Amino acid sequence: VGARVLDVGCGTGRVAHALAERGARVWGVDASDEMLSVARRRELPGGGFKRGQAERLPFKDGWFDAAVLRQVVHLVERPRTFAELGRVLRPGGRAVIATFDRAHFEGYWLGNLFPSVDRIDRGRFPTLDELEVELRGAGFGAPAVTRLTQPASLSRDEALERIRGRYISTLHLLDPEEYDRGLARAEQELPERVEYELDWLVLAAANGPAPR
Ligand SMILES: C[S@@+](CC[C@H](N)C(=O)[O-])C[C@H]1O[C@@H](n2cnc3c(N)ncnc32)[C@H](O)[C@@H]1O
Repeated sequence: VGARVLDVGCGTGRVAHALAERGARVWGVDASDEMLSVARRRELPGGGFKRGQAERLPFKDGWFDAAVLRQVVHLVERPRTFAELGRVLRPGGRAVIATFDRAHFEGYWLGNLFPSVDRIDRGRFPTLDELEVELRGAGFGAPAVTRLTQPASLSRDEALERIRGRYISTLHLLDPEEYDRGLARAEQELPERVEYELDWLVLAAANGPAPR
């Protein structure tokens, strides 16, 4: 309660608002004005939303007790971002990273429709080993690692909307023929409810060397 928390790549601010409801003073930062305009529809008491890049955070040195990055580390230049986290966190402050575990890409509903999604995502999403090395390189201690499996489901219409609106950024990276084929199959084959799992990898690392 009262901790100063930074949500990097906050998007529409879901994590930031959830943390504020639990008593933290939260600042959200994101590169996208569109995302921020949604995030700002609700006030963040004691904090706020700022436009900025993860690689050049618009905050003072040592200002935060914790920083969270949810579904963001596959999109940023990580060595620079992690160095920036080390700068804006106080000594001993924690960086918490939530990203998809390798297990996530096996049998993910989109991958059945668009065969390249699996290969593209495996290339984009960092492995645990990569994250550990990069965090150490930025001066963080060894992270505590947790794996979580979250059941999720979408209605057929929601799933089709996600594909048609290309809300999942990997869909922008497919060749147009594969996209069209996958969409046509989705229209024919998707059941009324699409049930799937999100496999999360969560790392929490303290700023500065591990205490002896
Ligand atoms: C998949 S969304 C995740 C949003 C939010 N963290 C959540 O879990 O709901 C990724 C967000 O990262 C933002 N983003 C991507 N690259 C960024 C960068 N270099 N600096 C800051 N934000 C970035 C995008 O604008 C987008 O809002």
